[in-house]
Amino acid sequence: MASDHVFKVLFLVQSAAFTLFIIHYSQMTTVVLKPVGKLNDEKHCHCKPTGTREVFNTSAYVHQNGELLMPIRGQLSNCTLADIKKRPGVVMLTTANLAFVDIALNMLESVKRIGVCVNTTVIAEDQKAYDLLLKYAKGDPAIYVQKTNSGEMDEIEPSRRLGSHYYGIMNKRQAYILTLLEQGLEVLFSDSDTFWFRDPFPYFQGDFDISIRSFSKTRIISKTHFCSGFIYLKPTNATIQFVRTWVELLDNNKKKGKFPTDQSVMNGLLTADKPVHVNITILDEDLFPWGSTFFDPSWQKQNHSTVVMHAANIPGHPAKLSKFKEFGMWLVNVTTSSNR
Ligand SMILES: *[C@@H]1O[C@H](CO)[C@@H](O)[C@H](O)[C@H]1NC(C)=O
Ligand SMILES: *[C@@H]1O[C@H](CO)[C@@H](O)[C@H](O)[C@H]1NC(C)=O
Ligand SMILES: *[C@@H]1O[C@H](CO)[C@@H](O)[C@H](O)[C@H]1NC(C)=O
Ligand SMILES: *[C@@H]1O[C@H](CO)[C@@H](O)[C@H](O)[C@H]1NC(C)=O
Ligand SMILES: *[C@@H]1O[C@H](CO)[C@@H](O)[C@H](O)[C@H]1NC(C)=O
Ligand SMILES: *[C@@H]1O[C@H](CO)[C@@H](O)[C@H](O)[C@H]1NC(C)=O
Ligand SMILES: *[C@@H]1O[C@H](CO)[C@@H](O)[C@H](O)[C@H]1NC(C)=O
Repeated sequence: MASDHVFKVLFLVQSAAFTLFIIHYSQMTTVVLKPVGKLNDEKHCHCKPTGTREVFNTSAYVHQNGELLMPIRGQLSNCTLADIKKRPGVVMLTTANLAFVDIALNMLESVKRIGVCVNTTVIAEDQKAYDLLLKYAKGDPAIYVQKTNSGEMDEIEPSRRLGSHYYGIMNKRQAYILTLLEQGLEVLFSDSDTFWFRDPFPYFQGDFDISIRSFSKTRIISKTHFCSGFIYLKPTNATIQFVRTWVELLDNNKKKGKFPTDQSVMNGLLTADKPVHVNITILDEDLFPWGSTFFDPSWQKQNHSTVVMHAANIPGHPAKLSKFKEFGMWLVNVTTSSNR
C-alpha cells in the first residue's frame, strides 16, 4: 500500500516535465499526505482528530537536481529512464492491432528477460489495442504507446485473402519509420511475432544504411529478396530517400486501390537500386532465423546461438500462438485474439 503510493508519487514526479519540476521545486510539496482516514472516535470526541495521515517524504527519493534516487523500472520493460538513455538515438518500433496485442506483449517479455533496454514505441492500430497496451505500459519509462495516426484498422486479424485490410496494416509501418528517421534516430523495426534470445544491437554495428534478413544466401542485392519485418535502418541520406520513395509508392498504389505488399515494393526498389543506392548488410540467417527454420526439429537439435527468431512464415495468429506454446516461448498470461 505504502510503496504503491510512493510509486504513484514518483511516477507523477517523473512524468511531469523536469524543467517544470526544477522551476517549481522549492514550492513543490515534498510531503505527500493521504486523506485523513475515518477518525477513531468521531462520535464521542470532538477534540482533536486522532486519525493519522500516512506521510510520504518524496525528498527521500528525489535529489535536488530532480534525479530519482530510486528510479522507476517499467513493468513491461524492467528498464529505467537511465537505462534507455544508455542507448541514445535508437528507437525500437513495433505495431499491433487488438488481435496481436498478446503476441506483442510476448515479444516485449522476451526482450525484458534478456535485459535489453531500448526506447520502444508500440503503435496501436485500433482503440482497443491502444487501451490494452496502455494498461500494460503505464508508467513504463521505456515503452511509449502511440495510437495510429493514419486511420484505424480492424481489431480482428484480417485474412490475408482480404488483401486490402491486411496489407493496409503492414503498409503503414514505413510512414512511422520515416518520421523517426527524419528525427535523426536509428530505427529497429521489429514485427510483433519475434522472440528475442539475445541482444541484437551488437549485430547492427558497421558501415551500412540498412541491415536486414534476405531470402537467400547470395550477397548480390539484385538477386535476392528481403524481409521487411525485422529491419534496422540508420538515418542516412540514402536511407531517408529510400524510405521516402517506399512510402510514396505505397501511397500511390493505395490511391489507385492497389495494395501490393510493403515488402514487394521494397524489394522492387532494392532490385532496381532506386531511388538511390543503399548499403545493405545481411543478417546471418542462423542468428536471425525465421519460424519455419527455427521450429524445425532437426534445426533445434543443432547448436544455433539464435539472437532473434521471427515467426514470419508461420501464418496466422493461432498457428503462431501454438508454436510459441509448444516450444515454451509463450511467456505471457493474456490472449487477445478473437479469431481462433
Ligand atoms: C524528508 O527527507 C529529507 C531527506 O531524507 C529530510 O531531510 C527531511 O527532514 C524529511 N522531511 C520530513 C518532513 O520528514
Ligand atoms: C530487473 O532488473 C534488475 C536490474 O537489472 C534485476 O536485478 C531484476 O532481476 C530484473 N527483474 C526482472 C523481473 O527481470
Ligand atoms: C524515445 O523516442 C522518442 C521517439 O519515438 C523520442 O521522442 C524520445 O525523445 C526518446 N526518448 C529518449 C529518452 O531517448
Ligand atoms: C556505401 O558503400 C559505398 C561503396 O562501398 C561507400 O563508398 C559508402 O561510403 C557507403 N555508405 C555508407 C553510408 O556506408
Ligand atoms: C544529406 O542531405 C543534406 C540535405 O539534403 C545535404 O545537405 C548533405 O550534404 C547530404 N549529406 C551527404 C553525406 O550526402
Ligand atoms: C552444443 O552445445 C552444448 C552445450 O554448449 C555442447 O555440450 C554440445 O557438445 C554442442 N553440440 C554440438 C553438436 O556442437
Ligand atoms: C493467469 O491469470 C489468471 C487470472 O489472473 C490466474 O488465475 C492464472 O493463474 C494466471 N496463470 C498464469 C500461468 O500465470
